[in-house]
Amino acid sequence: MAETLAEMAVEVLTTADGREKTRLSRDHAARWMAAREAGDALEIGRALPPSRPARPERPDLLDPRDVPRRKPGSEAGRLALLHAVAHIELNAVDLHWDVIARFIETPMPLGFYDDWVKAADEESKHFNLMCDCLEELGSHYGALPAHAGMWRAGEDTADDLMGRLAVVPMVLEARGLDVTPGMIGIFRKAGLESAVAALETIYAEEVGHVAYGSKWFHFLCGRENLDPKPVFHDLVRRYFHGALKPPFNEEKRAEAGLPPDFYWPLTETT
Ligand SMILES: [Fe+2]
Ligand SMILES: [Fe+2]
Repeated sequence: MAETLAEMAVEVLTTADGREKTRLSRDHAARWMAAREAGDALEIGRALPPSRPARPERPDLLDPRDVPRRKPGSEAGRLALLHAVAHIELNAVDLHWDVIARFIETPMPLGFYDDWVKAADEESKHFNLMCDCLEELGSHYGALPAHAGMWRAGEDTADDLMGRLAVVPMVLEARGLDVTPGMIGIFRKAGLESAVAALETIYAEEVGHVAYGSKWFHFLCGRENLDPKPVFHDLVRRYFHGALKPPFNEEKRAEAGLPPDFYWPLTETT
């Protein structure tokens, strides 16, 4: 049995089945949080995360160009959207446990681990919510192909904690804040209330993940006496492929500690 936080992270990362991965993830998160509340934190420990997390045999992973596009207003389009979100959530579970285990050589306050454990727990809930919605509609995660490139951000920033924080929570998860209200509208229009409720939960909790990213990015900059804004721009240009796309959800981004001068200059490729 996993004893340290790093071992727990690796156990989640090396579990392939989505429901099983998220069950373990939620159990481990509950164990960490209970120990913290009791004032007796578990050891962080040391364990080597896999370069790629284990994933189920299905869905088939395709190059994004080969994933079929479906009309957003159709039933097939709605299923494809829920399936795509489920895939993103499963990837997010792995990314959050990976950030815990991979950068153990960089000493961080316990609050850093609290935040990513909580985020991993929430992503696990999000994955299960999306699976429940798919199953309610007679489908399931794995029924459709999914994007193969999801782990790329993890690989690209495997040696750079500040790069990881800049690209994963502060760019990719922030993008989720931009697009989720539109998705909620699609399911509301179709009268699919359980999907609306699930996406509203995701939308509310994702603000926190972006905020954790911004908080710990600023913490690391402060510790190194670096000016956060130009460092953020450099790291995103180095590790993120392409320009950021407006429109931005400026209000939620602000709530998450991302000011406009962080992301607007990145809408142009240099
Ligand atoms: Fe999520
Ligand atoms: Fe998230």
